Amino acid sequence: MTSRREFISTATLAAAGVALAPLAACSQERPPATPAASAAPPKPFSGTLITRTIPSSGEKIPVIGMGTSGSFEVGADAGERGPLRDVLQAFVAAGGSLIDTAPTYSTAEDVLGDLIAQTNTRGKLFLATKLSGVTGRDEGLKQFNDSLRRLRTDKVELLQVHNLRDTTTQIALARELKQQGKTKYTGLTHYREDGQAQLADEMRKHKPDFIQINYSPVSRGAEQTIFPLAQELGCAVMINRAFEDGRLITQVRDKPLPPWAKDVGADSWAQLFLKFVLSHPAVTVVIPATSKVKHQVDNLRAGTGALLDAKQRQALIAALA
Ligand SMILES: NC(=O)c1ccc[n+]([C@@H]2O[C@H](COP(=O)([O-])OP(=O)(O)OC[C@H]3O[C@@H](n4cnc5c(N)ncnc54)[C@H](OP(=O)(O)O)[C@@H]3O)[C@@H](O)[C@H]2O)c1
Repeated sequence: MTSRREFISTATLAAAGVALAPLAACSQERPPATPAASAAPPKPFSGTLITRTIPSSGEKIPVIGMGTSGSFEVGADAGERGPLRDVLQAFVAAGGSLIDTAPTYSTAEDVLGDLIAQTNTRGKLFLATKLSGVTGRDEGLKQFNDSLRRLRTDKVELLQVHNLRDTTTQIALARELKQQGKTKYTGLTHYREDGQAQLADEMRKHKPDFIQINYSPVSRGAEQTIFPLAQELGCAVMINRAFEDGRLITQVRDKPLPPWAKDVGADSWAQLFLKFVLSHPAVTVVIPATSKVKHQVDNLRAGTGALLDAKQRQALIAALA
C-alpha cells in the first residue's frame, strides 16, 4: 500500500508535470486528480536528455545533472525533505543521473543518502562527492569513508578534490581509491574566475578524469584556458554556478524572453542559461541546484532539443550586459 507521504510526493510530481507512468504502475492508488485550472501546471518534461561522453572512458552521461549546495542542506523535518524527495524523483524519472555533493555542504550528504535509500534510486545515479577542506592522506581517507556512510553507498562514481586544497595528496588518494574500485573517476573543482589559473596548472600536472568550474553568460573566463585545456587533455567538464547562485534569475525576473527563445524550444530564462552553457562543445554536464520540483523540471527541459548557435549565444550575452 502506498504510504500517505509517498502519495503526497507522487501528487506533487504530477502537479509539476513529471511523467509518472513507472511510478503510477507501482502504486495501488488512483492517479491524483488534475490540478485546478487556475493553477496552470508547467509544461511536462518529455523527450530524451542529450548525453555527452566522458573522454577518459567513453561512458555517456545526461547533460543535465544537479547540485546540492544550499538546496539539500536541510534538517530532518519531513516538510523540508518532502519537496527534495520530489526533486530527486523528477530528476531520475527524466533520465538524469549525475548529482554533485560534498561532505562540507553541512547536511547535504546525509539528506541525499536518506532520499536515495527511500526512493531506491542508487542504481540509476552517478554520485559525485569531494575530498573537502582536509589535509593529509589520513584525514582525506576518514572523510571519504564518512561520505560513503552518509551517502549510504559503498562507492561513488566521481571523487573530486574541492577547491584545490592539498591537491597533490588528495588527488593521489582519489587515484588510490579509483584503483580499489571505490570511485570510478577522479576530479578537481573550483568555482571562481580567480581560481582558474591554478586549476589549469593542476590539470596539466594531474590529468584528472573530470574538472568542475563555474561558467555562465556573464562569467566566461573558462573559455580562455580551462575549456581548450580540458579538450586537449581529455577531461570531462562539469559546470557549477550556471545561474550565478540564483543572481542571473533575479536579474531577468521582469524581462520578457527574447523572441528567438522559441526557436530553441525554451520557455524560461533558466533554460536559456543552461542551453548557453551546454552549447560550448567542451562542456559535458551542468549541475543547477534547486529545492523546487517545478524548477527541476524546467532545468531538465533545457537538456532536450536545440542548443544555442553562435548568434544566439551573443544575443544572450548582450541581453545581460
Ligand atoms: N567549488 C565547488 O566545487 C562548487 C562551488 C559552487 C557550487 N558547486 C556545485 O554547483 C552546484 C550549483 O551551483 P550553485 O548552488 O552555486 O548555484 P546555481 O545552480 O547557479 O543557482 C542555484 C539557485 O538557482 C535557483 N534555481 C534553480 N533552478 C531554477 C529555475 N529553473 N528557475 C528559477 N530559479 C532556479 C535556486 O533556487 P530554488 O531552490 O528556488 O530553485 C537557487 O537559488 C552546487 O549546488 C554545488 O553542487 C560546487
